[in-house]
Amino acid sequence: MKKLICVLLCMVMALCALTSCGAKGKTLAEVQEAGKLVVATSPDFPPFENLEGGKVVGIEVELMEMICEELGVEFVIEQINFEAVLTGVQTGKYDCGMSGISVTPKREKSVLFTDAYCLAAQCIVVRADSTIASKADLEGKTISVQTGTTAAEFCTSEGYTLKQFEANQDAKLALTQGKVDAWVVDDLTAAEYCKGDASVKILNENMTTEPYAFAFAFGSEDLVAEINTILAKLMSDGTVASLFEKYDAPYTAPTNN
Ligand code: ARG
Repeated sequence: MKKLICVLLCMVMALCALTSCGAKGKTLAEVQEAGKLVVATSPDFPPFENLEGGKVVGIEVELMEMICEELGVEFVIEQINFEAVLTGVQTGKYDCGMSGISVTPKREKSVLFTDAYCLAAQCIVVRADSTIASKADLEGKTISVQTGTTAAEFCTSEGYTLKQFEANQDAKLALTQGKVDAWVVDDLTAAEYCKGDASVKILNENMTTEPYAFAFAFGSEDLVAEINTILAKLMSDGTVASLFEKYDAPYTAPTNN
């Protein structure tokens, strides 16, 4: 009898894992009933989300404002470290993750992504007087990255020595203070951080191509489908491209939606 119960329990658990029952994501109806979408973000990522006078501003903020307006819900921002965004979404603490999040096969196992709305890349930032000229020169060097990012993952897989920081400002500071040899970070964000700063330079070699999307917990399938419809419209009518233009950032449309 005990054995039978055990077998049954195992079957239920396996079924749960397969069908993502116990999923934490809110449905479209649940979000509309709550009247708000709680969005987690790490606002150290211009031009996508950045703090200006205590307010979070940027391309993704404006995009999410439009999405929430279409959904008919209030847009509520929660500021947290990037590292905590995806787990916070996965466990249902937040309805959505908005943080210049790159879609990767590994992340797709734990969260549900909307369609991508742009393409980005990882790039290398070094001090202006550095002799590092390309990725090949990074061998044996120490690199700063933001914790939990694709940059951290990529650099780990390349075998570089890493110094990890919760905030991008500190990852950059480590470079300018000479504590690391290079900083690996997303291209458009690098451009923003380096604007008008003669002490650093961005190398002309991108290391990866990464689509950005918004993250939800499993269970939010119908909400994500609705947002995909809204995103498709905002992309095809040029709204997304004009947002990038507003923030002086080159726009690369995703190719694989
Ligand atoms: N695109 C990179 C990733 O998904 C970095 C994102 C960092 N975002 C942030 N708001 N600091 O890992």
